[in-house]
Amino acid sequence: MLSKKSVQDIDVKGKRILLRCDFNVPLDLETKTTITNDKRILESMRTINYLIENDAKVILCSHIGKTKEKLSLKPVANRLEELLGKKVELLEEIIGENVKEKVNKMNNGDVVLLENVRMFEEEEACGDSFSKELASLAEIYVNDAFGTAHRAHASTYGVAKYLPAVCGFLIEKELEALDKSINNPIRPLVAILGGAKVSSKIGVITALLDKVDTVLIGGGMTYTFVKALGGNIGKSICENDKLDIAKKILEKAKEKGIQFILPSDSLVADDFSNDANIMVVPTNKIPEDYEGVDIGPKTIEKYKEIIINAGTVVWNGPVGVFELDNFANGTKEIAEVLANGNAISIIGGGDSAAAVSKFNLEEKMSHVSTGGGASLEFMEGKELPGIKALMDK
Ligand code: 3PG
Repeated sequence: MLSKKSVQDIDVKGKRILLRCDFNVPLDLETKTTITNDKRILESMRTINYLIENDAKVILCSHIGKTKEKLSLKPVANRLEELLGKKVELLEEIIGENVKEKVNKMNNGDVVLLENVRMFEEEEACGDSFSKELASLAEIYVNDAFGTAHRAHASTYGVAKYLPAVCGFLIEKELEALDKSINNPIRPLVAILGGAKVSSKIGVITALLDKVDTVLIGGGMTYTFVKALGGNIGKSICENDKLDIAKKILEKAKEKGIQFILPSDSLVADDFSNDANIMVVPTNKIPEDYEGVDIGPKTIEKYKEIIINAGTVVWNGPVGVFELDNFANGTKEIAEVLANGNAISIIGGGDSAAAVSKFNLEEKMSHVSTGGGASLEFMEGKELPGIKALMDK
């Protein structure tokens, strides 16, 4: 259970609230002005609306993109105006006298949005003076940026030193769903772990070996495991410096009596494109000029059966290159069986969430996290700085 104070544990009436959200939404690649998926904004609405309804003055704060990109939050301000049906002024200055003057003139129920907090290098450095300046705009800090809770930045961590700090409804919802799924699950608990690299998943795989009944492996990292077992993987992606770790993971799973299943067959292609020649082969017998791009039909059937009989499924990382239509079948079938089955379905953010959204299955899942890195670190058992900084109950 979450032991941190929430926005409902504090009197917000008439107060200036610094509300950190994760509005780091994807933008169209060409103009970088059109939001292509607004889930993170929609998921922030409950806390924003609560604060408006409770007569607070809402100062929204977020990053978008990486520090070097210096993107504007203007598209987010526009989307918020549409959703709230009221003015959301984008304040181009984030700290300083002008912005202080503006927020001091706010009325109860007003909403402003500070420009991308990563316009300042001090944000990531979590500089004390920047954190203090940012905090000085408000009387209370509410963190609802679950997607950024694994970052100890000024607006996610530093400001909490200077203000009463509580969480919003999204952080509460995320922690409850993720925590229950791995610490108090309906069993059998199955983890589907995909994505390109074993290296980015070592922590979560190791942590989950203590919790789950079955692990289903997919995606590019399959081939590091298969090579570690002596299979021929053709030109599939492989982390040669992780073969020993892959072997150790397999041994540990065996010791613990966990089913740790690698795809028995793979869809392979001679090129990374929709025009490539493709065929299905055993995963440990991939021809020289081919690479694995998706799980094969036998694996799909096996994984489906395990998912249908699961009590809870946590999914992190697609099982194939779902961005290319010809290689998307495995990920799509897994998403469909999860969406239509009875198991509690918990989808880690990032690529798996993007896949579920591509197949329009979001609504049918029990929980789709807004955090990629954050949900992964939470599942690894790490303490998230953005949560740690908040007041205890
Ligand atoms: C995310 O998209 O995972 C969060 O917004 C954090 O972004 P970052 O990885 O750029 O810190």
